[in-house]
Amino acid sequence: MELIRRILITGANGKLGHATARYFLERDLSCHVFLGVRERREQAEAVVADFPGRAFLCPLEITSEEAWTEALAGIEAQSGLLNVLINNAGYHDDALLASMSQTQWSGVLDANLNAVFLGCQAAMKPMMQQRWGRMINVASLSALHSPAGQTNYAAAKAGVLGLTQSLAKECARLGITVNAICPGHIEGALPKSWSDEQIKAVKRETPMRRFARPEEIAAVLFFLASAEASYMTGTSLKLDGALV
Ligand SMILES: NC(=O)c1ccc[n+]([C@@H]2O[C@H](COP(=O)([O-])OP(=O)(O)OC[C@H]3O[C@@H](n4cnc5c(N)ncnc54)[C@H](OP(=O)(O)O)[C@@H]3O)[C@@H](O)[C@H]2O)c1
Repeated sequence: MELIRRILITGANGKLGHATARYFLERDLSCHVFLGVRERREQAEAVVADFPGRAFLCPLEITSEEAWTEALAGIEAQSGLLNVLINNAGYHDDALLASMSQTQWSGVLDANLNAVFLGCQAAMKPMMQQRWGRMINVASLSALHSPAGQTNYAAAKAGVLGLTQSLAKECARLGITVNAICPGHIEGALPKSWSDEQIKAVKRETPMRRFARPEEIAAVLFFLASAEASYMTGTSLKLDGALV
């Protein structure tokens, strides 16, 4: 089957999101990439300018069910039915649990977990119509190896892994695969609060002695979104340079 991949990447103005968009556009010359944006847009706009007619901005507040409905209707009207969803948007807001506010807890749960539920649910319909789909959820190493100060983020990302496994089973006979990745630290996207000393110390702890380049993570996303990855579903891939 000749398949045009229509790929939605949430949080595509961010470090990993826009690198992933470029990676797909450079390697699959027939794909259409929709770059989900919220407030900041400059990186995503640069990708759109570099790939006219194949890359498009897609305003999307991932915590809003209506926004998902509008985004998918817009994609269908512009290009056709969505068949690849990369739930990449997310953020952390670290604090020790004893002093974490409920807003910090629920904000992180909403964006990192509840939004993945909304996105997967919205994407099921067009993917079921095509009997082909790829859902890929960007979790984190924190889901598997949770540091102090991240109870909210670790719980949300661990929830994403559970959702991924369960949904993969629901979709197994529909031609839709559902997978997650758990990146460790990504070069250029480290917590702003880290000092140079801290960065050096974490690199020393990492057997590869370096962080992931965004393109190295994008390469795994590219494979998971391919036709060739048809028997891989329900997995969570750890991409951490053997840190744990
Ligand atoms: N950086 C790392 O080392 C690392 C490690 C493991 C996992 N991850 C995960 O990888 C993903 C991408 O990380 P990154 O480093 O590329 O982050 P980033 O540069 O901070 O980008 C995150 C993106 O998510 C968007 N976003 C956040 N909340 C949103 C919402 N409610 N609605 C719509 N968009 C929203 C942001 O939009 P705005 O620009 O509008 O705020 C931003 O574009 C995240 O899920 C993160 O948890 C990152």
